Amino acid sequence: MLKNNTNEVENFSVRKAEIQDVENIHNLIGPYIETNILLNRTIDKIEKDIPLTWVAVNKQNEIIGSAALLFFSKTLCEIRALAVKKENISKGAGRALVKEIIRHVSENYERPIKVFALTYAVDFFKKLSFKEVPKENFPDKIYEVCSICVKKEHCDEKAVEIVIN
Ligand SMILES: CC(C)(COP(=O)(O)OP(=O)(O)OC[C@H]1O[C@@H](n2cnc3c(N)ncnc32)[C@H](O)[C@@H]1OP(=O)(O)O)[C@@H](O)C(=O)NCCC(=O)NCCS
Repeated sequence: MLKNNTNEVENFSVRKAEIQDVENIHNLIGPYIETNILLNRTIDKIEKDIPLTWVAVNKQNEIIGSAALLFFSKTLCEIRALAVKKENISKGAGRALVKEIIRHVSENYERPIKVFALTYAVDFFKKLSFKEVPKENFPDKIYEVCSICVKKEHCDEKAVEIVIN
């Protein structure tokens, strides 16, 4: 089962992203793109993905985390560009974002459905009941991004997935 965290209630909340959040999301993920932890995402791409993007906001209404969901088929989707501001790391925002996306997926789509991510934070996802699986399980994803990625020959990202029955 996914774990609750009182910080989610006390210090921030998770909501669907809105079009006016695009610039803040871009600023949030920028440092992770610069250090090659996340793939580049243009303002246009962030804007296009807004209908399936969530943000964590603090009490001052500032965006401290975000994540997007992308569908490859009716039964396969990816959590993409999950990021929490460095100064807010380890306060439960990442967990709250993933839990909200899982809730959204489980309540709105045909089941069983698989949610996956490519990530360096495997143990974070394992704490949320994801399991590590071979990246080759997701050839469409690999075709889409790996061929244009600077790390393609020496990528150490791992794939994780959860199946919602
Ligand atoms: C990975 C990331 C989203 C986690 O967000 P966060 O808000 O710091 O994580 P949380 O506070 O919700 O942590 C939930 C649990 O996972 C653990 N955890 C967090 N990050 C972890 C990591 N990188 N590795 C292992 N465990 C991690 C926490 O200790 C916590 O454990 P607990 O339940 O025992 O207390 C955040 O570190 C981040 O933005 N990283 C850079 C971008 C990135 O790697 N994104 C993933 C790409 S898909």
